[in-house]
Amino acid sequence: MTSDGQRPFPDGFLWGTATSAFQVEGATEAGGRRPSIWDTQCGIEGRIAHGDTGEVAADHYHRWREDVALMQQLGLQGYRFSIAWPRVQPTGVGPVNQPGLDFYSRLVDELLAAGITPLVTLYHWDLPQALEDDGGWPARDTSYRFADYAAIVFEALHDRVDLWATLNEPWCSAMLGYVDATHAPGRTETAAGLRAIHHLNLAHGLAVRAMRNIDPAPRQGIVWNPVRIVPLGQDPDGTIAEGRRRALGLRNRVWMDPVLRGRYPEDVLRDLEPYGGLPVEAGDLEAIAQPLDWVGINYYSDIRFQAAPGSRTANTPGLVGVATPDPGPDATDMGWPLTPDGLRAYLLDLRDEYPDLPPIYITENGAAFDDPIIDGAVHDKRRIAYLEGHLCALRAAIDAGVDVRGYFLWSLLDNFEWQYGYAMRFGIVHVDYDTLIRTPKDSANWYRDVIRRNGLAAG
Ligand code: FCB
Repeated sequence: MTSDGQRPFPDGFLWGTATSAFQVEGATEAGGRRPSIWDTQCGIEGRIAHGDTGEVAADHYHRWREDVALMQQLGLQGYRFSIAWPRVQPTGVGPVNQPGLDFYSRLVDELLAAGITPLVTLYHWDLPQALEDDGGWPARDTSYRFADYAAIVFEALHDRVDLWATLNEPWCSAMLGYVDATHAPGRTETAAGLRAIHHLNLAHGLAVRAMRNIDPAPRQGIVWNPVRIVPLGQDPDGTIAEGRRRALGLRNRVWMDPVLRGRYPEDVLRDLEPYGGLPVEAGDLEAIAQPLDWVGINYYSDIRFQAAPGSRTANTPGLVGVATPDPGPDATDMGWPLTPDGLRAYLLDLRDEYPDLPPIYITENGAAFDDPIIDGAVHDKRRIAYLEGHLCALRAAIDAGVDVRGYFLWSLLDNFEWQYGYAMRFGIVHVDYDTLIRTPKDSANWYRDVIRRNGLAAG
């Protein structure tokens, strides 16, 4: 990386952290909340490491004031959090559950009073279980229910919240939830997963339309987790190239093309046809392609593909003959390889592929490393190195002309990491799960300095 990484970021660049409702809130039965698909998932033996659940999590539902004060001490300028649909509409339909909505309204007020810009994600995977019982995302009706829910939340908060994201990483909702079963609701039905893809896209478009009808001023966006796939080794018969095309189609283009271009890519439609295809109806693509004010990109690492005759990839129908190599000893606790420059390279690819892309926010980036508390401190050097490398790469992408407006580090707090439970610690603030005491790690202090100088230190 060049020394450009050390120059300050553009004026007005927004530095924040991110969390999501189910991962930090706990209090799953408080204030009229009803179960989401993740509560159900936690209740099924063997689905979550160590039998962990979201019942307490980081107890943010009770400690939100303390957490906002902590953010203020760390000098954070932005906070991305999600709204739990089952708090606001406990069964996913019908009138608002006021105590649930009030929780977020108070949180927004507290953030604004602390000078912190809220970014609201409407859906970060916690579908009300009652809607799953009616078919979940494979059912078209769920898209309309989501638009109703979005309008309820927006009505309450649009006067104070400017940055809105409809969905977080819809690829995970569809493919991990309905195809490979690593995520809730844990179904293994490929055709249902493909229906979920289209209904998530439709839900996004209908929700943006509903919110703009109420007030066109707030900035509307969506959060994706596209990947950059780097081919490794020889590829004499083109298996890696074909696998890469297929995987990028399902992971990146089937989400971005309808939203940004108003159509699904022909080759992806062909790939998916044998598995049931996408249930597109007249008018859907117009609904999906609402112009956006920004897009969110979550980036953790590149994926590498090498030839592996005979292998199949569960979450990508038809992806055969490739596998990802062992990430080596330097990987994060998640087993994700360290590929910081991939962030720069990916953002340049993205800009080339979609020249009319709206401004970008990096809505998640961070690393799981488990470092012990010693004398009240956590010396998380590996996390700092990870963040430094990625911010350097981000600075280089901005230098190369990519319009990135802000960065939300994942995560503020150690939290419930889905199927891994509490085993994966992504926080810049350590959470003791017995006492719930928060202890800023070295990375939190390091990040405070980055924010203060609007960039990395020289030299
Ligand atoms: C992303 C999710 C987020 C968190 C990080 C580590 O895929 O959006 O909730 O789990 O990964």
